Amino acid sequence: YSEAELYRPNFHFTPQKGWMNDPNGMFYYNGYYHLFFQYYPDSNVWGPMHWGHAISTDMITWTEKPIALYPDEKGYIFSGSAVVDIKNTSGFGSLENPPIVAMFTYHDMKKEKAGETNYQSQGIAYSLDEGLTWTKYEANPVIKNPDMKDFRDPKMTWDAIHQQWIMALAAGDKTMFYSSKNLKEWKLLSDFGKAIGAHGGVWECPDFFPMTVEGTDEYKWVLLLSINPGGPNGGSATQYFVGDFDGNNFKLDESFSKDINGDKGVWIDYGRDNYAGVTFSNVSEVDGRKLFIGWMSNWNYAQKVPTETWRSSMTIPRELVLVKKDGHYSVNSRPVKELQNYVGKTIKKETLKIDKETVIVDKSVINLSSMDIHFSLKNLKEDTYTFSLSNELKNTVKFGFNKKENYFFIDRTQSGDLSFSPLFANKISKAPITEKFDAIDVRIIVDKTSIEIFYNNGKTVMTETFFPEKPMETFSATKEKFGYTLENLTINQLNFN
Ligand code: FRU
Repeated sequence: YSEAELYRPNFHFTPQKGWMNDPNGMFYYNGYYHLFFQYYPDSNVWGPMHWGHAISTDMITWTEKPIALYPDEKGYIFSGSAVVDIKNTSGFGSLENPPIVAMFTYHDMKKEKAGETNYQSQGIAYSLDEGLTWTKYEANPVIKNPDMKDFRDPKMTWDAIHQQWIMALAAGDKTMFYSSKNLKEWKLLSDFGKAIGAHGGVWECPDFFPMTVEGTDEYKWVLLLSINPGGPNGGSATQYFVGDFDGNNFKLDESFSKDINGDKGVWIDYGRDNYAGVTFSNVSEVDGRKLFIGWMSNWNYAQKVPTETWRSSMTIPRELVLVKKDGHYSVNSRPVKELQNYVGKTIKKETLKIDKETVIVDKSVINLSSMDIHFSLKNLKEDTYTFSLSNELKNTVKFGFNKKENYFFIDRTQSGDLSFSPLFANKISKAPITEKFDAIDVRIIVDKTSIEIFYNNGKTVMTETFFPEKPMETFSATKEKFGYTLENLTINQLNFN
């Protein structure tokens, strides 16, 4: 197998060639989803950052477009966001042809090398042709550096409640909120996060938006915040906060504040490969959904994974849903419904008994490289429930949950090539089971070199990558102490050409 054939995912976005990290500037307009991304086309490791660009009508099949933003004399183009300026508040376009306005961080390498600390500032650019070509604003930067080393990743949102543009910026150990009327002049409102939440590393890539609690009229504000390092299983990960915003200040919800108990992070994904994820602009306005994509990697080893022509892929797009249960809020993630359009062969079993090591499905029946699996389990006992993907070379990815010690897990310690970094498979990844339940719902998306597991309708998510020496061939379940039954099992093979 050539590396590209063996490891390039079938339905997760990867650049044709070169290095990719964070998703940037995602928006929806005129029938197309736009994804920009931190991109270095000339190498398979991080370097002078550009914004790559890809478009899609369904977020599953992407077409790469020409590079959107190139580094210039003011610096590399770091992460940021884009909005559709429908009312032409910026004046860059017209009401007939509203501009797309992007804000990004300029990272000035010359200043950094000279030992200065003020090397990150925010610039804007606009597009009048639906994101294809961009003009940088002549008066950049629009937000100067206040002598702060980490000052980046602006995420803009239209705040319809207070009729203002708002922007969240990562600033070292906190987020700073700004507001604007015209996307050019920005006023500092407040900051949030000092000594609140997980602080094992620097804060990066915030996202801040209101969400309606599923099934109600109540709304809350959600802040996504990526940190590196300091993730629950090492390296990079994204935490979130739920609270209220009065147009100036963000205040944690009381029950959420208790849930994080000061500095305990609550994570959008507990696996090791979902970082810097943010949401699309201009989707909620169109169809009410809040859609999220993350970078499916981790700074601990991202630059060393065994692919050569390209490096890194994005997560499956997910719909974020704010759920309130027993007075507790959680942001749940669910794979977008557009995946349904690719379902080919389907296997359905009402019940499947697991009373020994049991093969659920193997390659004689289905191609295990692209699957969407769904099942539930009832009458859970104090036991370990283990599932695995494996091949004849005994490369194995194990996952499941331990109902005795109350955690979910992914074990990739025997998943194939581990040689590229000691941090890739140094331990089993875990996520806490925080609520009591005796039934569970499991959804699993498999794409060649990644597994994304959604428990209980997306309340707890674990995403991890793996690099087997040949494709996975068998999906099986193991009995530990007690036998059990998979109910309403559906295995969908996903087809792409
Ligand atoms: C997150 C990050 C951002 C920064 C970008 C640089 O992965 O470190 O904070 O803008 O990557 O590529």
